[in-house]
This record gives sequence, C-alpha cells and structure tokens, in this order.
Amino acid sequence: MEKKGLVKANKLKPNFRLFNINELERVLNKTNGKHGENHYKILKAKKKSNYSVIELFAGAGGTALGFDHAGLEHILLSDINKDSVSTLKKNKPKWNILEEDITKMNFKSLSADIVSGGFPCQAFSYAGKKLGFEDARGTLFFDFARCIKEVKPKVIMGENVRGLLKHDHGKTLQSITSVLIDLGYNIAFKVLKAQYFDVPQKRERLIILGVRKDLNLPIFFPKEKDYLISLKEALQNCPKSEGQQYSKRKKEIMKLIPEGGYWRNLPKDLQKQYMSTSYYTSGGKTGMARRLSWNEPSLTLTCAPAQKQTERCHPKETRPLTIREYARIQTFPDSWEFIGSISSQYRQIGNAVPVNLGFHIGQCIIAMLNKKIDPKSMYKTKVLKELKDFKQMSLF
Ligand SMILES: C[S@@+](CC[C@H](N)C(=O)[O-])C[C@H]1O[C@@H](n2cnc3c(N)ncnc32)[C@H](O)[C@@H]1O
Repeated sequence: MEKKGLVKANKLKPNFRLFNINELERVLNKTNGKHGENHYKILKAKKKSNYSVIELFAGAGGTALGFDHAGLEHILLSDINKDSVSTLKKNKPKWNILEEDITKMNFKSLSADIVSGGFPCQAFSYAGKKLGFEDARGTLFFDFARCIKEVKPKVIMGENVRGLLKHDHGKTLQSITSVLIDLGYNIAFKVLKAQYFDVPQKRERLIILGVRKDLNLPIFFPKEKDYLISLKEALQNCPKSEGQQYSKRKKEIMKLIPEGGYWRNLPKDLQKQYMSTSYYTSGGKTGMARRLSWNEPSLTLTCAPAQKQTERCHPKETRPLTIREYARIQTFPDSWEFIGSISSQYRQIGNAVPVNLGFHIGQCIIAMLNKKIDPKSMYKTKVLKELKDFKQMSLF
C-alpha cells in the first residue's frame, strides 16, 4: 500500500517504518470498497483575505481557482495560450486576464503581495559558478524571476513537476534557488502528493515557496491528510460530457482488461500484438492498456486520456475518461467550463494543478503573511537563506 502511494510511512531508520493504524484501517476499508464518509468536495474558505496575487502561466486556472477559494484576490493573470485564456475569461469575467507571451510583458508598474507561476522546466546554460539572475536569461523561469524583481512581492510560489528535482543532475533547481535567493528571498521547496490533499488522484508537484528577507516571514507547508478519496467517490453523479473514443480494435482489447488491470491481463498473443516492441523492453509499463480502479485515487492525469503509455480507461465502462470526469479528478467544480477542441480541453485540465491542492497552498500563504500558523493543517519548515544551505541538502 505504501509503494502504491496509498498510505504514509514514517521512516524511522533503514528498514523500520511506522504506520498509523487508524489510517491503515481507513485506507484498507476504502480499497475494499467500504467507503464510509465521502470526503470529495471542492474546498472553499469562508473568509476572503486582502492579499493580492499575480498569476503567471495561469493555464485553465487550477492554481488560480485554488488560491481564489483560499481567499486570495487576483489582480492579474496571464497565459500565452488562447484557449486557456478563453477558459479563464468565460468562468471569471471580472478577472484581469491577459493573453500574452510573458517574455514581452512589463511588470514595473505593478504591485502585489504574491507572485505565483508554474513555469516550464528548462535547463540553464550558465558559464562559471556564480548563478545569478542574468544566467537564467533565455528561459521562462527568467521571466518569472524578472516579474519578481520588478514587483518585489512579499511571497512567491513556483510550481513544477517532480522531475525538476533531478533535472540536469539537480543543477536546474540549484540555479533557480540561487536566483531567488539573489533577488532577496528565503526559499523552501517540497514535493506535495495530491492524494493526501483532498484530491482523488496520485499526482506529485514540486512547490517552491519564498518570502522576502526583510519581512521576516515564516514558510508553511500544508500537512498531509490521513484519508484518501477514491475515484468512485469523486465520480458520483458526474455530469455527462464529451470525450475521446476508442477505435473498434482498441475497444475489443480494452474490454479484456479487468478493473485496476493492465496489458499483462491480456492473453499472451494479444500482449505481444498490442505492445509490439515494448513487449521486449524492461520496466513494468503498468500505464499501458490500463483500466483505473474504483476504490483508489486515479493515476496521474496526463494531457490526453488514451495515450499508449498512460492509458486512463474508465473502471467499468470501456472508454477513456470524459472531460467532466477529468475535471472532477482535478477538483474543478462542475460549473467550470473549458473552451476549445476536445483535445485542447483535456490538455488544459491535464496541465493544471489540482484546485484543492492550490487551495491548501493558498491557505498556507495567507497564514505566512499573517504570521499565524494553523497547526492542525500546516507546519513551519526550515528555509534556505544562502546557496550553501541548498548544497548541504541531499536531493537524491
Ligand atoms: C503547466 S501549465 C500551467 C497550469 C496552471 N498552473 C494551472 O494550474 O492550471 C503551463 C502554462 O504555461 C503557458 N506558457 C508557456 N509558455 C508561455 C509564455 N511564453 N508566456 C506565457 N505563458 C506561457 C502555457 O500556455 C501553459 O498554459
């Protein structure tokens, strides 16, 4: 269960792990189909804060809506993609949303408490040892950093894939940390597992938080919950919607896969036929011809529900997940519409930060700005103040 990302273990020392018996029972009941309380809900704070946000690389608004639900107020959102911007405008007509290439934007006249953005992960081609702001030029992170330099917000939030930890042997993250410290921020980062933050999906995101040094603010991260939300709970009464279709042959093959199964459940000859050359390569390839389980969180959603390496077939019906099912799993409300072709809608949803994960991060940011922790739902973390603090960390 731990390997599958269903329960958390406290690693005491090599070969010794401590589990919480109540959590084990809850998760076991869930995976046996005894659901108990349905935890699926879109989280919203009762109170608004007065803190303002600039959201860059906003996409279809996963982070933005989560922050909005946490009580933050957006003064500007931007993205280069036409459909994503249309999605944001359709759902939040009052937001100030720009369809622009970030490299062409100027932030000098703006002020905001928070700058947030899921910048794409790119390697730096720096020379020498000093990793300053100018060394990042040419990457989209540079423009994220430029916005921070021009706006000087109190708090920054960067979001990325887990792969950033090891990208270019850790050098990319080191450069990012170094630039942010150079700009005058104390930094902390963590990989958050969405399935422990009210999201019915196993999805990992690297979250970087920073606070302006002169303000002496703490950094808080959300505490993991000790329950999971299964796909069955998430898809209860899901509205009907459009979705991709399987070809006739693909449908015949996928019909043979049981709930939670994958290509190994096919007869031997079909395994070879379906997998072709992948049949002889190493690795479990458990995403191929995969049918999801009702009683567990969904596997990570990607930009399309029927890709050969990352199949996301409905647990009972033989078809890919629909648009509204995708949205439920990413904790977008049923009322949040997506604009564009079907493949564009899947891409926008698949690229998003789950809204409820954004909510939990947003709540931590408000608490950081208020210097008031809610110890039930968050914890204070150590910060990196100088590049040498990063170098002492073990990332691998
Ligand atoms: C991973 S998605 C962000 C998802 C978003 N954080 C969410 O939660 O829904 C990255 C976004 O960066 C945008 N992007 C890529 N290059 C850009 C550029 N040069 N200027 C502005 N936005 C850009 C893409 O259009 C895409 O929507």
